[in-house]
Amino acid sequence: MAQDSMSQKRSSKEARPKRLLRALAREGLERPPLWLMRQAGRYLPEYRALRVRAGGFLELCLTPELAAEATLQPVRRFGLDAAILFSDILMVPFALGQGMRFSENEGPILEPLDGKARAKLGLERLAQRLAPVYEAIERVRLSLAPETALIGFVGGPWTVASYMVEGHTSRDFAAVKLLGFNEPAEFAGLLDLLVEASATHLIRQVAAGVEVLQIFDSWAAALAESEFDAWCIEPIRRIVVKVKAAHPQVPIIGFPRGAGLGYKRFVERTGVDAIGLDPAVPLDWAARELQPYAALQGNLDPLLLVAGGEAMQQAAERILQSWGGGPFIFNLGHGVVQTTPPEHVATLVEIVRGWRA
Ligand code: CP3
Repeated sequence: MAQDSMSQKRSSKEARPKRLLRALAREGLERPPLWLMRQAGRYLPEYRALRVRAGGFLELCLTPELAAEATLQPVRRFGLDAAILFSDILMVPFALGQGMRFSENEGPILEPLDGKARAKLGLERLAQRLAPVYEAIERVRLSLAPETALIGFVGGPWTVASYMVEGHTSRDFAAVKLLGFNEPAEFAGLLDLLVEASATHLIRQVAAGVEVLQIFDSWAAALAESEFDAWCIEPIRRIVVKVKAAHPQVPIIGFPRGAGLGYKRFVERTGVDAIGLDPAVPLDWAARELQPYAALQGNLDPLLLVAGGEAMQQAAERILQSWGGGPFIFNLGHGVVQTTPPEHVATLVEIVRGWRA
């Protein structure tokens, strides 16, 4: 070898499987892989500048060059083990034909889903409307270091349906639950449509270059046992079956946030390879009841990343001690919040990188 260049170092690593993929294959590792839900976003000054350049959030998601750049920003800054595609779970309702906008202060606002708007929804234009997302994936793959995995995602049908029916982030989920209770056939039809659209979108993300998939069911905690089974577990189980039929080798992480004791049934029934856990999940319980069946992912409280210091360090070490001996992916228990100091993320990366099983 003539020179010890950076590119040669990189290509020699290429043969070594990526750390995230090794954890998802349930290999024991000397230290776990690390990435953060919502690792791209407004807590990063470079993201805020990019969003201004794009003119809005939806425009940012739908301009491949800019979405690729937003995906790469946190990986470049912190050297995380995975990039997550910069997009949104509401790209699916958008592609089904529901009008929406993202307001700076109120978050997503969706077109009211009355009978007329519901009849208009369909899978026909999904591929065309999501084409910029797949192009963003292709661009990210071209510039991602060989040791960094690329994660694609969708929302769980229950969470996405809640936005579609409520029209915005809900506190009580009254409209979507009442649709489910009063018009079960109508609601089942909506979940079926979302199962189909989500599976298709995940399969196309893999074809474009993502290597791992995550399903975010962010509002699972709002459901009682039988609705959790019917509206969260069952639709996700069907998505997993469809995706595994097309791409059996691609690992899937499920995240039914706040599922409590329901996490166990979720793991048993959906067939996911890994389970994302929120900060309330007891560490010993998850090590005993879940880790033998699925890799664990989580669960640092995002506000400890805002706080930093001793509190963050101690909590991170407790998680590493409890879960680091088995298949485990270090993450937060929910997404990075806007007030997070980027330096705290750098410190967390050092803590996890320096830890040894
Ligand atoms: O994780 C990443 O860095 C990848 C990108 C990503 C975004 N949203 C970008 C985003 C992912 C994986 C999501 C998932 C998502 N989107 C979820 C599930 C995860 C969770 O947080 O529970 C949900 C419920 C949504 C819906 C959504 N999108 C809401 C409620 C909001 C507004 C609230 C907020 O945080 O601003 C969004 C907008 C959104 N999605 C932003 C980003 C970076 C902020 C947009 C901006 O103002 O620039």
